[in-house]
Amino acid sequence: ADIYFLFSGLIGRSWAMVFAAGGFKVKLYDIAQQQLTSALENIRKQMKELEESGFLKGTLSAEQQLALISICTDLKAAVEGATFIQECTPENLELKKKIFGQLDLIVGDNVILSSSTSCLLPSKLFTGLKHVKQCIVSHPVNPPYFVPLVEIVPHPETDPSTTERTHALMKKIGQSPVKLNREIEGFVLNRLQYAVISEAWRLVGEGVISPTDLDLVMSDGLGMRYAFIGPLETMHLNAEGISNYCERYREGMRLVLNTFGPVPEFSGEIEQKINQAMSEKIPVVPKVLDARRKWRDECLTGLAKLKKQMKSD
Ligand code: NAI
Repeated sequence: ADIYFLFSGLIGRSWAMVFAAGGFKVKLYDIAQQQLTSALENIRKQMKELEESGFLKGTLSAEQQLALISICTDLKAAVEGATFIQECTPENLELKKKIFGQLDLIVGDNVILSSSTSCLLPSKLFTGLKHVKQCIVSHPVNPPYFVPLVEIVPHPETDPSTTERTHALMKKIGQSPVKLNREIEGFVLNRLQYAVISEAWRLVGEGVISPTDLDLVMSDGLGMRYAFIGPLETMHLNAEGISNYCERYREGMRLVLNTFGPVPEFSGEIEQKINQAMSEKIPVVPKVLDARRKWRDECLTGLAKLKKQMKSD
């Protein structure tokens, strides 16, 4: 089987589990042996729990998947034989540039160099590299094990075959890849997310609605649909097709959109107000946050199951 190679933080570990579930060999690389040992332990624990609850991905058992994952602290040895390298170092441009610079010197012409970055543009990361044609961003969503979307963002000089191969690979391991035709700040997911966050911030800031009710509008309203259909299909179905929707709602939408305020500061009084409301509901204590995250992941697992069931029906 092909060999894939990653870094072992939060996202690196998740990627490793997704690739192993897809039946691929994975090598984890990190700067410290301790980091790797604890990553392996953590992966083992997660896989066993997933297996027990019936949520382990793929057709292999947890033991079989674990046997596919090995660790390595020597970069050169780690990339040997790799066909796809997913970089998962901290979100720091200088650090990532350094890593890609090192990789550039030791990889061949066939391997794909892929970055997990959430917001660094490919032109910032890859410009000047000898292997720029083989470089791409594959931005996952946290937690990738339960949320399958991957944004694939090429550098202007990325070879189309790199994009195609990355897309095919992501599909093969059961993720849901989308291709951006060119790079743009925030890619697509965060642009949509920030549009929602900024209007949420303004509405609470202007006292139109309380922070907890604002969240309900999404979780018990809009979000119910969005787990299955996007905003464009929503328009299509909410009238007799897109053209009919535009005919009916064009004026109204523009009227509302023209009342949107400026980009928020995300600080000061409004920050305090939102922080207070959120902290009352979920105190900022590691134990409480972790429990809530665990609950969130259970919800996402259930949702993933439902989505699969709805698809096969
Ligand atoms: P993290 O801090 O959990 O993991 C970073 C890993 O890099 C650690 O294992 C650390 O030991 C290692 N590392 C640090 N310096 C290194 C070096 N010089 N060489 C090699 N390894 C080194 O970070 P996390 O959250 O896993 O993020 C990784 C990347 O994934 C970032 O680019 C982030 O933007 C992206 N991402 C994160 C998401 C999230 O929600 N956490 C979601 C989507 C993308």
